[in-house]
Amino acid sequence: MNILVLGSGGREHALAWAIMQNPKCDRLICAPGNAGMAAIAECAALDINNGSAVIAFCEEVAIDFVVIGPEAPLAAGVADRLQAAGIACFGPSAAAARLEASKAFTKEICAAVGAPTAAYAHFTDAEAAITYIRAQGAPIVIKADGLAAGKGVVVAMNEVEALEAVDAMFAGALGEAGAEVVIEEFMQGEEASFFVLVDGETCLPIGTAQDHKRVGEGDTGPNTGGMGAYSPAPVLTDNVAETALAKIIRPTMAEMARRGTPYQGVLYAGLMIENGAPRLVEYNVRFGDPECQVLMMRLGAQALDLMLACAEGRLGEMAVNWADDHALTVVMAAQGYPGSYEKGSVIKGVEDCPEDSAHMVFHAGTSQQAGQLVATGGRVLNVTARGDTLQEARDRAYGMVDQIDWPEGFCRRDIGWRAL
Ligand code: AMP
Ligand code: GLY
Repeated sequence: MNILVLGSGGREHALAWAIMQNPKCDRLICAPGNAGMAAIAECAALDINNGSAVIAFCEEVAIDFVVIGPEAPLAAGVADRLQAAGIACFGPSAAAARLEASKAFTKEICAAVGAPTAAYAHFTDAEAAITYIRAQGAPIVIKADGLAAGKGVVVAMNEVEALEAVDAMFAGALGEAGAEVVIEEFMQGEEASFFVLVDGETCLPIGTAQDHKRVGEGDTGPNTGGMGAYSPAPVLTDNVAETALAKIIRPTMAEMARRGTPYQGVLYAGLMIENGAPRLVEYNVRFGDPECQVLMMRLGAQALDLMLACAEGRLGEMAVNWADDHALTVVMAAQGYPGSYEKGSVIKGVEDCPEDSAHMVFHAGTSQQAGQLVATGGRVLNVTARGDTLQEARDRAYGMVDQIDWPEGFCRRDIGWRAL
């Protein structure tokens, strides 16, 4: 079959890498793609948030199946458009994607089904929000309602920070995303990510991971899209996973179906786990990036069969065959990230890194220019390895990091520290 992957990050390179290994894939096109995807598939320039453009492209090259990587095309309704055009697609409708696109919507649906999550209040003006913060005190969490590219959450450790965050959001610092604000109770515990495929009805867990959101070692400094990840996450034990499915995920999915907006795709539940009890931090309606890279390393070619079954409503007949091992990925980013950074520096040594089922360098912001690999984004490479133990996966990943010659880049040296 002919398959189109939408996106250009490390997540989409990992998806493309897994899909390519499956004999069902005859032709793979990535749009817009990056240098890593260009090495294993065709790349096409395409406005992936424009449903008409995506459908026209699918018809032109006879695409049988579309895998949507990022949240923006999902929130823009590209999956709805594909479905209406009769093109099979992995990813939820715009109505179901509200689980990520609106924090207020997610809090409301959790309340409706009694799913454990932080207590909250929802505001459309600064004055009421400020009164609430003064009454609640700190620590407290301020969230822009809409999609804000990972910049919409402020975990305020004191009242001043909380009030500043509210002022900034209502003053338009995040544009439309901050026109409404959710204020939440601060939750204690350890965070982990749980990934579940949903075909509208059946929920099939496909793995756990832990991300490293802060830019600095020891989880310090500003939040980023993620500086590294590993799978499995030991804190997300089978018991915790079963509780999260029973109390949070299955009830939410049943409620989405009941409301006439069934969910189809991967559901990424961010959980806060304290004393073995999970509470929902947030839902995302896509794979995590870089969590996807470690999940794909462990799932391999079956990822395509699972995504197809998900799109076709056949998850009930599927089982996941786990590689009973560990995977870890280290993000190499351009110096300055998540603030401003230079583009265009040359990266050497990636071609000398091993590429096999235990070692992969997934690309994010890269391109080939005049025969050289060049950095074109903030997060640039995801150096990923598997091992029988997490320590072995980590040693292999950092072994590859040390082979890469990129003075303008940096990485955290402590990925996996909580589990080790
Ligand atoms: P989000 O964009 O919703 O994932 O939030 C970004 C990060 O803020 C999360 O990964 C958590 O580390 C933190 N966070 C969000 N909500 C809460 C909360 N209610 N209590 C504590 N930390 C939170
Ligand atoms: N790594 C966090 C995310 O993808 O949202």
